[in-house]
Amino acid sequence: MYFCGNDFSAQSVPPGFWRGEPALILPVAATWVFSYVDRLFAGQWMSGKRVRMKTVMVVFGTRPEAIKMCPLVNELKTRKGIRTVVCVSGQHRQMLDSVLEIFHVKPDYDLSVMKPEQTLFDITTGILSSFRSVLEAEKPDVVLVHGDTSTAFVSALACFYMQIPVGHVEAGLRTYNIDSPYPEEFNRQAIGIIGRYHFAPTPLAAEHLIREGKNPETVYITGNTVIDAMRHTVKESYTHPELEWVGDRKLIFITAHRRENLGEPMHHMFRAIRRVLDEHPECRAVYPIHMNPSVRKVAEAELGGCDSIHMIEPIDVLDCHNFEARCHLCLTDSGGIQEECPAFGRPVLVMRDTTERPEGVDSGVLRLTGTHEEDIYRNFKDLLENQASYDAMAHACNPYGDGRATQRIADILETGKYDPWVAG
Ligand code: UD1
Ligand code: UDP
Repeated sequence: MYFCGNDFSAQSVPPGFWRGEPALILPVAATWVFSYVDRLFAGQWMSGKRVRMKTVMVVFGTRPEAIKMCPLVNELKTRKGIRTVVCVSGQHRQMLDSVLEIFHVKPDYDLSVMKPEQTLFDITTGILSSFRSVLEAEKPDVVLVHGDTSTAFVSALACFYMQIPVGHVEAGLRTYNIDSPYPEEFNRQAIGIIGRYHFAPTPLAAEHLIREGKNPETVYITGNTVIDAMRHTVKESYTHPELEWVGDRKLIFITAHRRENLGEPMHHMFRAIRRVLDEHPECRAVYPIHMNPSVRKVAEAELGGCDSIHMIEPIDVLDCHNFEARCHLCLTDSGGIQEECPAFGRPVLVMRDTTERPEGVDSGVLRLTGTHEEDIYRNFKDLLENQASYDAMAHACNPYGDGRATQRIADILETGKYDPWVAG
């Protein structure tokens, strides 16, 4: 029961109705009328036949998934052949809700699983037990999950248990190191095993999937939906009090949150950043801190009291994209920011040992620094003191998409039409 292609089932008249068997006429007529009215609001005409709308359920729960799935939800909602149902896990609460508001997406289901200091066990068991009844109620034709979070993995697993096809958005990113990013590399590979539709953001991601033995006919190169999101967020006229505080100085934009960096690596990262900022008064840093209390503790210990850095609450995606567009450079361990900053030509020091987004490294805008204090210190200083190094990284390029990924995914799901993204 593959969803894409021409397998839309036409509405059929109940058997026995036209034969006029009296015992059947009343109940069957009632069913038929009910079903007709139901489909009148949930179907469309194609080649003179009324065709059944397919139910596409979109599931997400964290900030980055929301940023990349909300534009897809909005695109799917414009499609006549698709009924879109949104289920959020609530793995993130505040950080998720702010994105929903910006994209005007109202979930149909909210599993509200977030707990303070939640463990991977909490998220996994919470979603697995509560998502089942949503699937039973909606019986979707396909469930779309995103990327590599616990929400995505566990929702895909629930679909697998119920034999519901899964479409994996942002499929095929790999480090092939199960410990980094942790647990995301495992999650992404596991969803790859379950997925029926692999929406790869880049040709490299598609190559990984095909090399792993996925049927090439189920692998689609679409571009990354984050580029679609950025079309709505970045504004020429944007201002913010933090940008006024930075004024003519160089804005250094910082984020950090990865689980494998919690503890010692994070101490190293922040110590290196503080040393460089102390030596460079021409810089001012803005660091919106992830809500994870383990991150907050280390940040406060290492960066507290530093006058040239403002540690602030998470900013919404509109602010974040506009900060990226205006920064001098960015230090981060985020995945999404590695995709966004290249579009603005803003150099990114990726404070990680591995990246599943090598396209930006190959194009020269990202540099992988590792997580040792001396390595981050040296790379950060180099970009501030060596103009040639900076210039070599600061060029706009977009190896992650053309802003039409959501349209491509919706086309594939609605009609089977596939117009691949060709990296330029
Ligand atoms: C999760 C994803 C990671 C993604 C990141 C994006 C997994 C395993 N990891 O990691 O891939 O890069 O989200 O940010 O799914 N918290 C709040 N309020 C919020 C959000 C989080 O208080 O709005 C707290 C949680 O209660 C928890 C901590 O932050 O204590 C970490 O959140 P969690 O979802 O467990 O993992 P992340 O590290 O955010
Ligand atoms: N982001 C945001 N506010 C912030 C920090 C990040 O809106 O304070 C956005 C950022 O633009 C990107 C996404 O969140 O789109 C990345 O999320 P995160 O770094 O939490 O997760 P990852 O991408 O590493 O999975």
